[in-house]
Amino acid sequence: MNNILIVYYSETGFTEKYSRWLSEDLDCMAVSLDSAKRHDLSSYDKILFGTWIMAGEVQRLSEIQNLCPDEDKCVLFVTGAAPANFADNFTAIHTALQNSDFDIKYFYLQSGLNYQKMKFRNKMVMKLMNVMMKIRKPVGENERVLKEIIKNSFDNSRREYLEPMETYIKIGLEEK
Ligand SMILES: Cc1cc2nc3c(=O)[nH]c(=O)nc-3n(C[C@H](O)[C@H](O)[C@H](O)COP(=O)(O)O)c2cc1C
Repeated sequence: MNNILIVYYSETGFTEKYSRWLSEDLDCMAVSLDSAKRHDLSSYDKILFGTWIMAGEVQRLSEIQNLCPDEDKCVLFVTGAAPANFADNFTAIHTALQNSDFDIKYFYLQSGLNYQKMKFRNKMVMKLMNVMMKIRKPVGENERVLKEIIKNSFDNSRREYLEPMETYIKIGLEEK
């Protein structure tokens, strides 16, 4: 088993699913963010933190930053419903990291939406967004994409989306 740990925060299961795939591919353990607080993270060669984006906010970023023992050893992956070419998510992640002075390598992974598993409050936020977007004509390509993808549950997570991150991790370990 590799000396890598995956730490994830997931509400509806997409980030957890990516973490499970990663743990199989990289032969390492995956634990939830809350249980990671009980582990000594300083002994790992690499720690992969997984979380998701909500209305442009990277969830639990400050907790992840507090847990990360060394920025060079840590990698962040963020899941979101928007496709990987949706520039707004990259801007949001980049800005959040910059504002937190958190210099960590990150990857974005498209996932999907799961209305069945969403917390009630988040479901209401999405319903409200749906209504607003129906009333108001979308402005620009980004809003047109969002309007379409938030209508229903979907799963666009793909195991192959992990390849760039897995290659990055493997090369880093070989260079050690
Ligand atoms: C209230 C809410 C807001 C969201 N906002 C965004 C967003 O701004 N951009 C995006 O790409 N996905 C957004 N999503 C989709 C989630 O990021 C996506 O479903 C994510 O993979 C959920 O992770 P989880 O299943 O591990 O909890 C939003 C989801 C919810 C519930």
